[in-house]
Amino acid sequence: MQHVLVTGAGGYIGSTLVPTLLKEGYRVTAVDRFFFGSDRLQNNSKLACVKEDSRKLSPELFKGVDAVIDLVAISNDPSGELFESATWQINFESRVRTAELAKAAGVKRYILPSSCSIYGFQKGLADETSPTNPLTVYAKANEKAEIGVLGLADESFIVVVMRQATIFGYSPRMRFDLAINGMTFGAYTHKKLPLMRDGTQYRPMLHVQDTSDVMRLLLTASPKSINGHIFNVGSEANTYQLGDLGRKIAKTVGEQLGEEIPIEWYGDPDHRSYRVSFNKIQDTLNWKPKMDAEAGSREIIEKLQSGELDKSTDTITLEWYQELVKWHKIIKDAEMYGGILDI
Ligand SMILES: NC(=O)c1ccc[n+]([C@@H]2O[C@H](COP(=O)([O-])OP(=O)(O)OC[C@H]3O[C@@H](n4cnc5c(N)ncnc54)[C@H](O)[C@@H]3O)[C@@H](O)[C@H]2O)c1
Repeated sequence: MQHVLVTGAGGYIGSTLVPTLLKEGYRVTAVDRFFFGSDRLQNNSKLACVKEDSRKLSPELFKGVDAVIDLVAISNDPSGELFESATWQINFESRVRTAELAKAAGVKRYILPSSCSIYGFQKGLADETSPTNPLTVYAKANEKAEIGVLGLADESFIVVVMRQATIFGYSPRMRFDLAINGMTFGAYTHKKLPLMRDGTQYRPMLHVQDTSDVMRLLLTASPKSINGHIFNVGSEANTYQLGDLGRKIAKTVGEQLGEEIPIEWYGDPDHRSYRVSFNKIQDTLNWKPKMDAEAGSREIIEKLQSGELDKSTDTITLEWYQELVKWHKIIKDAEMYGGILDI
């Protein structure tokens, strides 16, 4: 296995995954529209960046590719609700088409990074055979993509679905719209920890390097153990009720700053709550996560303290897409002869 094509490669997970693969000696083709900037991936002789929309990929792109990791997505619930039709096109249709193009080109392996959010609200412990309960457009599109790509699996085309827990930790394309990251930023900067009501909801968490490591392991795992399978990716140890998680992060940040950080509640009670069994991935790959919430939070604090990281609009996915759409119209209206002032 030598050449991996990664879609959505300039995103939060992609900008940690791509260096991980390069370090392992893979050649990588990074495909993205680079909505969050094209400077998140460092130059490397084994890396080719292709600026393209996932809905328009050409069959030629897949020639000589051994595996595809299809990260591309409008990547959270609020963005999925606001940009509903684009979310169906990108998260569902383009991923199934990408898998079809890959299969037709003779690519051997296709990995779909989906989400545990497709469990929605669950009373018991959900495993991969439990009925799903997708509550949002984002979760429904993920489920349709899972069904679409799994239908393509056969002896010569290995398909595997990862239902990832909510990710946390530092990545070059940073996201502060994810629970642990947002809590850490709020606590560090405003000295108050923002916490979504009512705090009883269960949510599994997973560090961005840990999920990248699972993707790397799935590239070489024996076909028999993974082909046509869905895996929940996360751990019991990193499954939290959000109230408890908030108190842990407040304590971690408080210790770094030498002061007590109070909790500041916001929003209506969040109905998305799920506890998930992670036995299957841990047994199949003999894998355990390396990072927990406190370690992830400390890593972000260090980056904030060093000035390497700050909360700009592009770290909040929904706000950034809204900004891009707004400025697209303003620039189109103001532009003449290919420019604004200089033409
Ligand atoms: N971050 C999480 O907590 C989490 C949890 C579970 C699952 N996931 C899934 O993992 C994947 C990656 O998530 P992420 O956090 O890195 O998201 P992200 O928003 O940071 O990255 C998505 C990337 O896709 C690109 N993109 C979007 N639409 C495109 C298009 N039409 N054509 C080409 N590129 C396009 C964006 O420019 C961006 O770089 C997504 O499928 C997401 O649903 C993420």
